[in-house]
Amino acid sequence: MVDVLLGLQWGDEGKGKIVDYLAQGYDIIARFQGGPNAGHTLYVDGNKVVLRTIPSGVFNPRTLNLIGNGVVIDPVTLREEIEGLKQLGIAVDTNLFIAHKAHLILPSHRALDAASEAAKGKDKIGSTLKGIGPAYMDKTGRNGLRVGDILTENWKEKYEKLKNKHMEMLAMYQDIPDWKSWEAEFFNAIEYLRNLNIVNCEYWINEHLANGKKILAEGAQGSMLDVDYGTYPFVTSSNTIAAGVCTGLGIAPQKVGDVYGITKAYCTRVGSGPFPTELFDETGDKLRDAGHEYGAVTKRPRRCGWIDLVALKYAVMMSGANRLIVTKTDVLDGFDEIRVCTSYTVNGETTTEFPFDICSDNIVANYETLEGWGNNMTGCTDAQALPGAFLKYQHKLESFLGARIQFVSNGTGRNNLIKIF
Ligand code: GDP
Ligand code: IMO
Ligand code: MG
Repeated sequence: MVDVLLGLQWGDEGKGKIVDYLAQGYDIIARFQGGPNAGHTLYVDGNKVVLRTIPSGVFNPRTLNLIGNGVVIDPVTLREEIEGLKQLGIAVDTNLFIAHKAHLILPSHRALDAASEAAKGKDKIGSTLKGIGPAYMDKTGRNGLRVGDILTENWKEKYEKLKNKHMEMLAMYQDIPDWKSWEAEFFNAIEYLRNLNIVNCEYWINEHLANGKKILAEGAQGSMLDVDYGTYPFVTSSNTIAAGVCTGLGIAPQKVGDVYGITKAYCTRVGSGPFPTELFDETGDKLRDAGHEYGAVTKRPRRCGWIDLVALKYAVMMSGANRLIVTKTDVLDGFDEIRVCTSYTVNGETTTEFPFDICSDNIVANYETLEGWGNNMTGCTDAQALPGAFLKYQHKLESFLGARIQFVSNGTGRNNLIKIF
């Protein structure tokens, strides 16, 4: 079976840490969408590592790691990641596999991302500027270049053709970065990519499934950044919900097993766009400080607020998340009270449904207030020792969301994880 782990909020829920832990029980970890806009943080033997394109199973020596065809790959970032891991003694080359149908991010995609964001002015998405949107646009526009193309004879011709098209598009913009200077390192990285294990993802993964291998699909971004169901247009350009696993890896829906849905005990968002429970006061600042809420990729301060059960229930519904994981519970230590949003008032009407026009509608988040758990989550190692106030919070989430919490995370390390069932 292919189990799935995905973010239920706006990304950065702690997916990297949890996948690294769960990887012990899987033969293969597979990324199915997104690209180097992702930053998945792991602490291994005291070293902090931020993975961008490489699956977070890479620290488990017996786990194979697949970059699926739904991912967009920047060869330059990929090479940097692999070389960085080698310095930590991780032999990535032998257990990393790359789908030949995954699309490539070109230097001109990054330039288009930057130019189009600059032109949007105050309406900008807050993109990570890694070329994600333009690369997926070329994929659906049927112009894109795929990893397999670099193995064909006329690769250079294909590259020039797409580059020229991008140059015509760039001519429409004023603020264009000096992207031509990025081409040399891109071509070096392409040579590097040629020597990695490039595979036919759909046959590769289905053969492993037929041989009884256990696979975990690792999501990037979060459900509320999904291109179809997120807070459009302030979203990323891929399907981040469980449905993306089938197209992103080439597997049938019957092969999907458990879905781990991961949420912080509060909520964050980086970049622009609606965030109904955002806090603009000192409580928001306290969450940012205590949770070290700064982007793993762009270092931007993350916007912080209370947990939003309306948005979470919507995300749980769309992906069928049946095993919840709550991270960063230690960050709420020392809060006298903890608020949970249980409905919205939209243009005067109260609802528990996520509204269509979240960008322009007048949305007020309504809260229930729960008692804080003192300083008792930090250092807790056992489900039997969870503080009573946490249990009430846990039951509130479980009854509202209709799914059970399987793991509670209370620190950055591999061991800061409490298994409930
Ligand atoms: P991802 O993109 O979902 O993998 O998450 P990020 O790595 O971008 O952001 C999560 C951050 O929270 C990282 O810095 C993690 O080290 C950290 N983190 C994960 N779980 C916990 C936790 O339970 N408590 C604390 N304090 N930090 C955590
Ligand atoms: P992980 O996997 C948080 C956000 C950006 C921006 C929007 C579009 O680490 O959780 P893009 O570069 O995709 O065009 O940006 O999506 N975003 C993320 N926010 N975590 C991420 O990934 C993100 N990837 C993209 O900030 O608002
Ligand atoms: Mg992240």
